[in-house]
Amino acid sequence: MTALKTPKIIVFDSGLGGLTVYRELRAALPDAHYLYVADTDAFPYGNLHKDELITRLLVLFDRLIERENPDVCVIACNTASTIALASLRDHFDVPFIGTVPAIKVAAQQSRSKLFSVLATPATVAQDYTRELVKRYAGSCEVTLVGSRNLAGLAEQFMRGEKVDEDKLRHEIAPAFVTIGEERTDCIALGCTHYPLLTDLMREVAPWQVTYIDPAAAIARQTEVVVSQASERPCTGASMISNQLVYTGGDGIGESISTFLQTLGLVDVFHDEIIG
Ligand code: DGL
Repeated sequence: MTALKTPKIIVFDSGLGGLTVYRELRAALPDAHYLYVADTDAFPYGNLHKDELITRLLVLFDRLIERENPDVCVIACNTASTIALASLRDHFDVPFIGTVPAIKVAAQQSRSKLFSVLATPATVAQDYTRELVKRYAGSCEVTLVGSRNLAGLAEQFMRGEKVDEDKLRHEIAPAFVTIGEERTDCIALGCTHYPLLTDLMREVAPWQVTYIDPAAAIARQTEVVVSQASERPCTGASMISNQLVYTGGDGIGESISTFLQTLGLVDVFHDEIIG
């Protein structure tokens, strides 16, 4: 169904949360060649100033696109998408697919008309997110919750470490709201790290809600974009399939290799691209 036999897809996040999107992409487009890029040197993105993040992403993608010649780039990070997607699309002719909180879906699914968006503090502060609420959730009471620590807890979980239940309970508590007889019944997960924690969230949550993960919708959108993409001029770049590269920081670590293997990512290395 795709016009390109083996599309080359870059999947990008500040860390490993974007693997929740990568997992769905691989299921939808198993024959594509993937390069997963984790910008661990700057993780978490929520700590960067907006302009600093835009500049960093433009430099990084300038180099990545020249080196890898991808057909499609998927920004599997809400923080980067809500801040920099427009600039990336303006600067490059490669199609960019973003990840933003599924506010429209939450508004459609919520019966109590009370839902929350759980994301990084940077994502909830963006005009982009607030515009989505205005445009799609006018009939709902929406609580925006910026969590400082959930992405870090999800990375701990991936490393196979025990997640502190009290900390988790504390982080998600503001997303559970009661107004009169009604209470929150949906939570839009606005950070690609969070779907890793939904089972644990269910265990510690004050009541059960529907958690909305946009990953499958992003994979469907990527299928559409790939099916419409035409062959890019050959630059001689060859993207080896199913690699994960990271830019620095504390790196990836041995402890996470089991988790990565379940996703078919065995080729993992430090990349100097932004160094
Ligand atoms: N995975 C990123 C996102 O979806 C959040 C992690 C970070 O703060 O860099 O927003």
